[in-house]
Amino acid sequence: MNNTSSVKTLHFTDIVYNRQHHYDPQTGVFTCIIPGIFQFNFLCISHISEKNPLLAEAAVHTEMLLCSLFVLYLCTVPVQLNSNDFLSPLLKKCYEDAKEIVDVAYRFSREESLTRVRREVVRPHDALRLLNQPRGDTRSAVRSADYLDQTLRLLQERTHHVHKRSLNATDLLTEEELKSLVEITGCAARVRLPNCRTTPNVNKYRTATGVCNNLKSPRLGALNSPFTRWLPAEYDDGISQPKGWNNRTINNFLLPLVRQVSNNILATTDAGVVNDTEYTHMVTLFGQWTDHDLTFTPSSPSIRSFSNGINCDESCERTEPCIPIAIPPGDPRLPTGKDSCIPSFRSASTCGTGFSAYNFGGEPKKREQMNALTAFLDLGQVYGSEEKLALFLRDTENEGGLMRVNTEFRDNGRELLPFTGLEMNMCATRKRITNDTNAKEVPCFMAGDVRVDATIALTSLHTLFLREHNRVARALKRINPQWDSETLYQESRKILGAYTQIFVFRDYLPHIVGPDAMHRLLGRYPGYNPKVDPSVSNVFATAAYRFAHLAIQPMFTRLDANYREHPKFPSVSLYRAFFTPWRIVFEGGVDPLIRGLISFPAKLNTQDHMMVDALRERLFQFVQHLALDLGSLNMQRGREHGLPGYNAWRRFCGLSAPRNQAELAQVMNNTELARKLLDLYGTPENIDVWLGGVSEPFVCGGRVGPLFACLIANQFKNIQQGDRLWYENPGVFSKRQRLALSRVTLSRVICDNTGITTVPQDAFSVLSRSNRLVQCNSLSSVDLTAWRERDCSVSKDLPDLQALDNEVLEA
Ligand code: HEM
Repeated sequence: MNNTSSVKTLHFTDIVYNRQHHYDPQTGVFTCIIPGIFQFNFLCISHISEKNPLLAEAAVHTEMLLCSLFVLYLCTVPVQLNSNDFLSPLLKKCYEDAKEIVDVAYRFSREESLTRVRREVVRPHDALRLLNQPRGDTRSAVRSADYLDQTLRLLQERTHHVHKRSLNATDLLTEEELKSLVEITGCAARVRLPNCRTTPNVNKYRTATGVCNNLKSPRLGALNSPFTRWLPAEYDDGISQPKGWNNRTINNFLLPLVRQVSNNILATTDAGVVNDTEYTHMVTLFGQWTDHDLTFTPSSPSIRSFSNGINCDESCERTEPCIPIAIPPGDPRLPTGKDSCIPSFRSASTCGTGFSAYNFGGEPKKREQMNALTAFLDLGQVYGSEEKLALFLRDTENEGGLMRVNTEFRDNGRELLPFTGLEMNMCATRKRITNDTNAKEVPCFMAGDVRVDATIALTSLHTLFLREHNRVARALKRINPQWDSETLYQESRKILGAYTQIFVFRDYLPHIVGPDAMHRLLGRYPGYNPKVDPSVSNVFATAAYRFAHLAIQPMFTRLDANYREHPKFPSVSLYRAFFTPWRIVFEGGVDPLIRGLISFPAKLNTQDHMMVDALRERLFQFVQHLALDLGSLNMQRGREHGLPGYNAWRRFCGLSAPRNQAELAQVMNNTELARKLLDLYGTPENIDVWLGGVSEPFVCGGRVGPLFACLIANQFKNIQQGDRLWYENPGVFSKRQRLALSRVTLSRVICDNTGITTVPQDAFSVLSRSNRLVQCNSLSSVDLTAWRERDCSVSKDLPDLQALDNEVLEA
């Protein structure tokens, strides 16, 4: 074979399974043929040695043989067809341009964010955007959706010029082209079903991603799937545009500006805050903690519009993904005028929803938002909901099944969360807050959920559960020295997962939804039902479970060992506790904060003192820039997700739908509030569901009104019944283990992992005669010897879960 200069690189995807190939020994050319479509020639290259022709000939023969085998393999083994090959030149161009637009916008946004963080000019809306950024696999999912969306937008634009009449882009596409487009954008991969039969330990342990919890529908409840809808979305254009986007009337009334609603209904001063007489601030924080196990709605990674390049934070124009929050005239804090607004960003959409789905023809499919977490109560905020992250968070340097901890600092000898890489340090807030230019900064902490640094109280909970994992893993190693690192990790994770389900159902939810909803919807565990969809609903994440934004105190109390104000590290204003991990490192660790949470009352949500200024006027205020308003954000988000109004949800729950001020006054048990609401909205139908929900008087024994009690209880019912690995599902734990688990209390977890020696018996109830501070050693603890492995099986009294699952698969 002669040497040749015409070297062609062979791509596997260029070759199609056709079982037709041809080799010409004279020329050394291999040809793969797909009749009518494709022909590909391949020439083997040889390096002939001129010094020894015999050797050279032998080498040539060997190489030819290898070449023949290689090309034979390529020509006969089924390989994926490159989807590009089915695209028309126009579509191909649209796809390439769309990809370029999206990639450039993402890159620009990332670089811009990095620059702002490095220059320490992070504005409050930057902080929120960075916090809500999709990461890892979620980022790929969001990117795929954007590729698809933008390709179809460009196609529509370009064909529109050719065809005078308005055409859906997909009218010009063949079925094959659509399929190929979905493939190359990466959207097809998002819905491809994994094979649960080959997933290791699928009956024993949860996957990090929640995939294969439901064996028949493996993606139910898994991360990066759309939030489910209990009522259809109501977008302005019926498909994608936020409610009120086009200033058109809804039920004959314009929607009021969200900031106006916030000013008129939510405002309170810190002095006006009413304390809860029954529940501690820990109840509030535990709500946020649980939310970060269940929901995370990623934003668009782009800070500028794909279609016209407008920067969302330099303009008040409404153009995707910018959804600026307009400021009403006479706003007490924010500058008013045409060019004044709070920049805000749309939540990312899932593949093939919104306009792209419309373009796919058939029923227009409305825009859906993505949940980047699993719907299961699985402590994803500790362990991570993606395999890669989960692995990264583990301490792989020893065989103990431990979680990685901070290697630089400890808290009075106890473990702290590891730090993130230094690339983007949003937590370098110390110099600014303390006005000390010499102050040492620390990076953000890292955990299974990215919001770990949002406040130091939340960080304390992360720290507590991280330590509990390691404590349990060490104890299990003593009990079962033969267990390897993987078993120790998975068994500890499983135990902590059960804790969280117990804390939520036994200790937390009854205080929130009250005994009636508890009894009707969350009473006795009825067993696993594979037909129940555990997915989180949009209304839960975007409205109902945000109820506790009104139960947050304006201060985080920090107490000493005697439960008195800490002399060295006094209580911290909430607005000075955002992104401040250095307070945990340098200001006495987590103990003072945890003492504050378990002994100080929650804020009570009352109809005339709703949201504290730290959240409404100073959210993520780092320096002098426009701080965010969490009340406005909640309502803006609800409209952006197309959530139906208050009355639609009341009807959904079988509750009355007030038609006028008198009826609304009755529902709210408050005439003045009803008047104020109708002054803004005109009709109860239009009230933003979050606002309507948090305005209702509490159900008996709960901390939400009837609407949110219904929505929250229904959500948790689905999460419980749709979880194959729920801790009470027979086969998950042995009877003895379940009994041991039933002794767990949050107070004891605190005792076991901090320097705190006295705690209230019930960490959720304020101190009283029936809930006194007690010595830690008087509290029951989980007897881990129930996990001692005898002979060869973990627990002989476990039914065969594999057999149960096979029944499910075969049913
Ligand atoms: C100091 C405490 C808290 C702060 C600073 C805070 C802040 C925030 C912020 C900035 C957002 C994103 C808003 C948006 O852009 O739509 C958010 C979302 C949310 N918050 Fe809070 N929050 C706190 C406590 C709580 C509590 C106590 C709960 C519930 C019991 C809660 C539940 C939620 C939920 C469900 C979401 C939506 C999460 C998602 O799906 O992405 N938050 N919160």
